[in-house]
Amino acid sequence: MVADRRRDLWDQNSQWWTQKYVNRDDPDYEELLLPLITDLFLNQKSVLDIGGGEGRVSRSLVIENTCDVTCADFSFSQISAAKNLGRGPTFVQAAADNLPFRTGSFDGALACLVFEHLENFEQAVDEASRILIPNGRFVLVLNHPVTQTSNSGFVYDHTHDPPEKYWRISEYLTETSQYEEVEKGIFIPFEHRTISRYINTLVESGFIIERFYEPAPSHEFISKNPEYENVRAIPRLLIIICKK
Ligand SMILES: C[S@@+](CC[C@H](N)C(=O)[O-])C[C@H]1O[C@@H](n2cnc3c(N)ncnc32)[C@H](O)[C@@H]1O
Repeated sequence: MVADRRRDLWDQNSQWWTQKYVNRDDPDYEELLLPLITDLFLNQKSVLDIGGGEGRVSRSLVIENTCDVTCADFSFSQISAAKNLGRGPTFVQAAADNLPFRTGSFDGALACLVFEHLENFEQAVDEASRILIPNGRFVLVLNHPVTQTSNSGFVYDHTHDPPEKYWRISEYLTETSQYEEVEKGIFIPFEHRTISRYINTLVESGFIIERFYEPAPSHEFISKNPEYENVRAIPRLLIIICKK
């Protein structure tokens, strides 16, 4: 039932997601994520994009790396939007915790800004491991669990003249599950987990952690969002690179 509510929300939010993050050039994708993901999957023949949404990352991988990319997402609306945009990947409606692919069928897999939205995280990690070949690469991109914990954000301190601005870090050690209203009427399911939970789950599923990245916000992001200028040393993303 809960999984259905989550899928319904992504179905309802599909147009919003496309307008907000796909139609406008989102600097995090254009400057950071797409070039990094392209590099990480160079020379791989087949890649699964888990929770691939309307297929932006998948399309970029097909174009830049000319590999076979399958984009899987549990939302009918997201996959329909992806199919309409087309341009190379194979699109499949599928849940991350129950992937309809044979064991060892992909060289690489990625989940870009997906696992912090799903509840059956352990099963999803097991599934990512199962569908990979031995030594296959898994790339997990997350909203940074330390700095993007819900209730984190700007605080304006008016005891100073001029007022000072801080980035408040909310209760990092408390794991939470909630539907967050990110804009009026737009609810997104968010699961806050600690970094140790992510790492330990990956390790328990048999992954070897190869690298971490915590990129600073891109220059273009800061120029489009000048309020972030004085918190540019606070990472918004965490990227974990693993090998099966
Ligand atoms: C924030 S969007 C990211 C989309 C895409 N990865 C990207 O970076 O452009 C999250 C996506 O995860 C999908 N998703 C959430 N939970 C999922 C699940 N349990 N199984 C498969 N897809 C899921 C949503 O439908 C949505 O398209």
